[in-house]
Amino acid sequence: MAKIIDGKKISGEFLEKLGADVLSLKEKGIVPGLAVIIAGNNSASRVYVRNKIKICTQLGIHSESYNLPEDVSMPELLELIGTLNKKESIHGILPQLPLPSHLDEREVIAAISPKKDVDAFHRENVGAIMIGEYNFLPCTPAGVMELLRAEGIPAQGKNCVVVGRSNIVGKPMAMLLLHENATVTICHSKTKDLPAICKTADILICAIGKAKFFTGDMINPGAVVIDVGMNRDENGKLCGDADFSSCEPVAGYITPVPGGVGPMTIAMLMKNTVTAAARRFAQD
Ligand code: GUN
Repeated sequence: MAKIIDGKKISGEFLEKLGADVLSLKEKGIVPGLAVIIAGNNSASRVYVRNKIKICTQLGIHSESYNLPEDVSMPELLELIGTLNKKESIHGILPQLPLPSHLDEREVIAAISPKKDVDAFHRENVGAIMIGEYNFLPCTPAGVMELLRAEGIPAQGKNCVVVGRSNIVGKPMAMLLLHENATVTICHSKTKDLPAICKTADILICAIGKAKFFTGDMINPGAVVIDVGMNRDENGKLCGDADFSSCEPVAGYITPVPGGVGPMTIAMLMKNTVTAAARRFAQD
């Protein structure tokens, strides 16, 4: 029987502390501000954006949401980002991904001021993370590290297996674990004998994007299973990349979906927005 890592509770405690930082910035005349850009009608993206705006409101962070049509052009989008880069009341800019396929995601991310890049996707921020000198960490991997910290699980010396190599999760996740002195293996779709490698993991990061892919027979007894997946199962129910019912009896710890990594991702976005506002204030 695994201990269930309660991301909702841990994120709630984190946000409560962050609320105090928002208040102390407000006392100095600074209201942190986040702009979220969404293009098109991706229903999952709309839910994510709504949740982000809701938490901003709860924390007293100013938020603006820009709903652009599916056929928005690159120049139009870049012009909006240029305006937001200059806007004093906005400290963080987040284009919700994925963007419609005719838009060049890399170019969009590169157009965001690195000081307002609260996703930490800009190449300048990605490079800073590689050398361990960062202002922002990407929200999902940072949220996972916070969950491990909250549960008192050190990564140092552990065999950590990260399954997935996206720029958003897999690659930065591996780097953050490495910074904590873990031994890190990154696996992907071309990895040979993935189940055998998963079975060596003290900490298994499931970020493959396939519903219930990881089953109990792939889990090292007592391992920490962190499920970054957000999928729909055959009945349309939200589920992770790990098959909870077969993994939970084998694992030592496991994050549920929903209620595990997801709430932490939003909490880290709020933290990055507050950090961006505080940095700007320090520079003024
Ligand atoms: N889409 C899914 N996850 C993310 C994220 O962390 N940031 C952005 N901008 N888009 C996403």
